Amino acid sequence: MPEDHFGEDVAATYDDEVAEMLDASTTDAAVEFLAELAGEDGALELGIGTGRIAIPLARRGVAVSGIDLSSAMVARMRGKPGGSEIPVTLGDFAATRVEGRFSLAYLVFNTIMNLTTQDEQVACFQNVARHLEPGGRFVIEVGVPELQRLPPGETVRAFEITPTHLGFDEFEVATQGLVSHHYSIRDGKATVHSIPFRYVWPAELDLMARLAGMTFRERWGGWRREPFTAESSMHVSVWEKS
Ligand SMILES: C[S@@+](CC[C@H](N)C(=O)[O-])C[C@H]1O[C@@H](n2cnc3c(N)ncnc32)[C@H](O)[C@@H]1O
Repeated sequence: MPEDHFGEDVAATYDDEVAEMLDASTTDAAVEFLAELAGEDGALELGIGTGRIAIPLARRGVAVSGIDLSSAMVARMRGKPGGSEIPVTLGDFAATRVEGRFSLAYLVFNTIMNLTTQDEQVACFQNVARHLEPGGRFVIEVGVPELQRLPPGETVRAFEITPTHLGFDEFEVATQGLVSHHYSIRDGKATVHSIPFRYVWPAELDLMARLAGMTFRERWGGWRREPFTAESSMHVSVWEKS
């Protein structure tokens, strides 16, 4: 089982930190995008967390189920209106099986990168394929690796410097490894938190989908179907189970 990096301390401030980072209309656009793809058989969210996407999607009439490793994150979701009605299986989304077949599975907010090896990321696609009905869609939202910003020979890049948060990404290019280090000040108290990731290229994801019996359908530069270009910093990609 992978290590849980979303314990009580992270879960306690997760929603506030995301609210500072993302404007609410981005979450609305994600929910709209996913609602359009969700068929009658419902949707499975991998890494459902505190229900940021799942709760408003369920409110739109989509039957949402979830998988998550962190009981602390899921407890936050269950404390919100509508959150306790969403079935969640605790476990690793690269391996955990959930009852039923779904018309949509989705993995947003860079969470594919929480799987820190290529084998685990491939296993995740294969696990999704097992849960999708034929014609079902898999949606991933993830950043484009920022290697163009890393000067040759350097391994650390600051991604945020504010009076209350210093964020540094530390790259291990040979293994596509990335550790994000966060130094935060909240209520006058400093906390340090580091999370390991594996960054992954769009074309590599397409190959993982193919290995799992899925076909590439769409790639956008954002949830509002912005074109995906050489300047895009993130993408929303859709594959279909053959
Ligand atoms: C960045 S949060 C995203 C939560 C939610 N999807 C959102 O968009 O706000 C990542 C979530 O994925 C979960 N997670 C990370 N790795 C996981 C794994 N291997 N299996 C299951 N859940 C995992 C974490 O516990 C956390 O709740």
